[in-house]
Amino acid sequence: MTNGLKMTVIRTNDDNQSACCVLLSEASWLERYRDYANDPTSLLSESELHYFSFFKSERRKQSYLMGRLCAKQACLNLVSIEKDCSFSSIEIKKGVFNFPVVVHPLLPNIQVSISHVNGSACAIAFSERHPMSIDVELLDDKRCRTMEKKLEDGELDCRESFFSADHHRVSRYIKTRAEFNSYFNLVNWTAKESLSKVLRTGLMCPTHLYEVTSCKVLLKEDFIEIYDAFDLEERGFVFVSLFKHFSQYKVISFLDIKLGQVISICLPRQSKLKKALSD
Ligand SMILES: CC(C)(COP(=O)(O)OP(=O)(O)OC[C@H]1O[C@@H](n2cnc3c(N)ncnc32)[C@H](O)[C@@H]1OP(=O)(O)O)[C@@H](O)C(=O)NCCC(=O)NCCS
Repeated sequence: MTNGLKMTVIRTNDDNQSACCVLLSEASWLERYRDYANDPTSLLSESELHYFSFFKSERRKQSYLMGRLCAKQACLNLVSIEKDCSFSSIEIKKGVFNFPVVVHPLLPNIQVSISHVNGSACAIAFSERHPMSIDVELLDDKRCRTMEKKLEDGELDCRESFFSADHHRVSRYIKTRAEFNSYFNLVNWTAKESLSKVLRTGLMCPTHLYEVTSCKVLLKEDFIEIYDAFDLEERGFVFVSLFKHFSQYKVISFLDIKLGQVISICLPRQSKLKKALSD
């Protein structure tokens, strides 16, 4: 997925088609990261460099650089720019609530959402008229226990109905009830975080407002191109979650069991993602 996954957003009764590009950092990017860590000037704009200079921890330096790299590459993959456009000429400012804001004259109305975990990062670039966001998390026992405690009563019911109705669909890889609960919690949590990003509130308001009201596995037959693109055929599933209070949004989550990783993308509920033909 070096060039990212370019997708078309399909909406009925809407002639203005939108597109988006999802990009995940890869293990081979660590090399690139080291170069940028030694000399961030070719990646960061002046004000990004200034902000970066205050970071003390290596972990934060890496997440910032990897996130900026993914986000800028995703923008360039989404929009074909004839002229030379360097990474450092693209600025990703911080909005007042810390959300990212893309600034570049050749990228009008393009925005990004960024997420990072354990030295890797992912980003989605999209048209401003069609809000989207992304969140990535790794399976971690301690985090899962915390997530379990944060489940709303309605989400526990949702987990029960999902288990009764859809467990057979995921039983190929998810064997025990405990595993099922952990993966559900992870999908549920990333769904809420990605909703909080699309709303630009982050988790600054009571999380019960982001309650998930339904979660289902998307059939591979209906989503074959996306399963292929995320290489999930032999290793995972795609889920869709809906919200109690934000019915205009949905989250599509890509669970990679082998990596123990979930990537969740929040988008308008009536939109469908289709892999772009050029990919
Ligand atoms: C926004 C939030 C949900 C991000 O989740 P996370 O799991 O911590 O981190 P992720 O790696 O997935 O995402 C981080 C990215 O989210 C983006 N982000 C931050 N705040 C955002 C907001 N309000 N809306 C949308 N995106 C936001 C940023 O791009 C950030 O990356 P960057 O700082 O390198 O630019 C979470 O940080 C949060 O709730 N923040 C609000 C509370 C807060 O600001 N606390 C600060 C410490 S007290």
